[in-house]
Amino acid sequence: MEKILILDFGSQTTQLIGRRIRDMGVYTEIIPGDTLLTDTLFAGVRGIILSGSPESVYIPEATVPDPQIYTCGLPLLGICYGLQRMTADLGGLVEALPQREYGGVEVQVRLPGVGEGLTDQAWRFFAGFDHAIPLSRLMAESPGPSSLSTTVTFTAWMSHGDTLTRLAPGFREYGRSSTGFPAVVIHQDQETRPWFGLQFHPEVSHSERGQEILAAFVFGVCACAASWTMEQYLEQLNRTLVEQVGTSPVLLLISGGVDSTVAGALLLKSLNPEQVHLMYMDTGLMRKDETKTVQTALERLGARHVHIVRCETAFLSALKGVEDPESKRNIIGDLFITLQEQEVARLGLPDSCFLVQGTLYTDLIESGKGVGNKAHLIKSHHNVGSPLVKAKRKAGLIIEPLDKLYKDEVRRLGRLLALEEELVRRHPFPGPGLAVRILGEVTQEKCDILREADALYIAELKKRRSPTGERLYDEIWQAFAVLLPVRSVGVAGDVRKYGWVLSLRAVVSTDGMTADVYPFPIKDLLEISTLITNTVKDIGRVTYDISSKPPATIEWE
Ligand code: XMP
Repeated sequence: MEKILILDFGSQTTQLIGRRIRDMGVYTEIIPGDTLLTDTLFAGVRGIILSGSPESVYIPEATVPDPQIYTCGLPLLGICYGLQRMTADLGGLVEALPQREYGGVEVQVRLPGVGEGLTDQAWRFFAGFDHAIPLSRLMAESPGPSSLSTTVTFTAWMSHGDTLTRLAPGFREYGRSSTGFPAVVIHQDQETRPWFGLQFHPEVSHSERGQEILAAFVFGVCACAASWTMEQYLEQLNRTLVEQVGTSPVLLLISGGVDSTVAGALLLKSLNPEQVHLMYMDTGLMRKDETKTVQTALERLGARHVHIVRCETAFLSALKGVEDPESKRNIIGDLFITLQEQEVARLGLPDSCFLVQGTLYTDLIESGKGVGNKAHLIKSHHNVGSPLVKAKRKAGLIIEPLDKLYKDEVRRLGRLLALEEELVRRHPFPGPGLAVRILGEVTQEKCDILREADALYIAELKKRRSPTGERLYDEIWQAFAVLLPVRSVGVAGDVRKYGWVLSLRAVVSTDGMTADVYPFPIKDLLEISTLITNTVKDIGRVTYDISSKPPATIEWE
């Protein structure tokens, strides 16, 4: 499969480079910047992008790419550190700036003249900077040099503490920032070295023409076709799964969330449903009707072996009297692992059984330090350090079929696999469930109150529309109710009553790493509050949480 390989040197925006290019219909793969490039990794690669990094190239421990990138003949695009890396590796000089440059900076680019002897590929790269050429045309055809003007100026997003003080031999500067530093360089021998460098970040939306510049590299220079589709990817996933698993049984631990449900649907489609064992633990800390919804959905997809483990009593008794948030999480995590081991053993599946996990691409990123080192992945509380997962990984019996996909791509895959829209669009739900949304001690009674209130809130979000006509639920990345450990006074009829205080949360986000408060129209909030206090008699007061992340987190505990 045709792809763009992205070497990740640890920048916060590496993922964005991958996203932007996949959005253009071209498959991307991100690997740690120092990965040794094997034939398998090179297969299908049409171009390599070197990402940014918080490091400086001149520190001894700076990450260095496999030198094969400079001999393989593929087009290279260095972004920020990526450009500095290429410069340092190829004989130029990179030095610290007196002051770090951060934010929007004006860049002036000189578009080359016809007499400069550049290749067709290089012309196409410069077309990305030309305001006269729309992205759609860049993707569809190659605009020749005739459409280029002589200079263009645009705002580019910079974030660097170092700069090129001497270009590597063979490179020429075509763009400079208004602060006086090289911003766009290309190698003059484009026939054998189709190498390009940008000091700014085209992947960041604040960079004008950023998307066009990336498109110019991907389509113009690397000659990729916009042909990557989810249908095609699904076919490939099917084939890989069948080859990998053969006739062995597979076990998938279903959480009720979108990822594991899509992974389940994929297994049922690719393999014989008789091979597929789906296990779901109802901890009693689930949302209203969650277990029923999950079971029905899986059975509709043809599941033959759905093992629902009901362990509400065990979890609630373990949590009795516990108020400290960290202790609650630890108790739930430990009990989950213990019960899971027992239940898996009871299924009596052979040792050769594969364990499937719904790990996503973003789950593999450890704090901006690159992807690929699966030993460090953190998916959810019950998978961290689970002996079952460790043993299966050691035996090479772990399969993570979604580990190349982003959340919205998993949703698209879910639709292709005929999962119900409501399941595909579900908001994320934390592993420890309602326990982190009931502040203080968790009891059955509080779980029931919260379940009712949360279900009402979510049902309203599904009914109500925003000014753009979308359901509020679909505009919000994650919404839920939180039960606070306080009672407050109110009146019911003529009688004073002390009811629990409920807080509503609704945030918009792209990945949960940062989040903004959803700016509800006040009318919706007022009506939802009235509905909840009128319907759930134990709740006396409703508040709306107006904290963004950071400094707050999305969950309350
Ligand atoms: P925070 O609260 O850290 O949450 O801003 C970010 C996202 O992660 C979810 N979350 C969890 N998911 N196990 C999970 O599987 C957990 O322990 C956990 N804690 C938080 C949270 O719902 C949000 O989507």
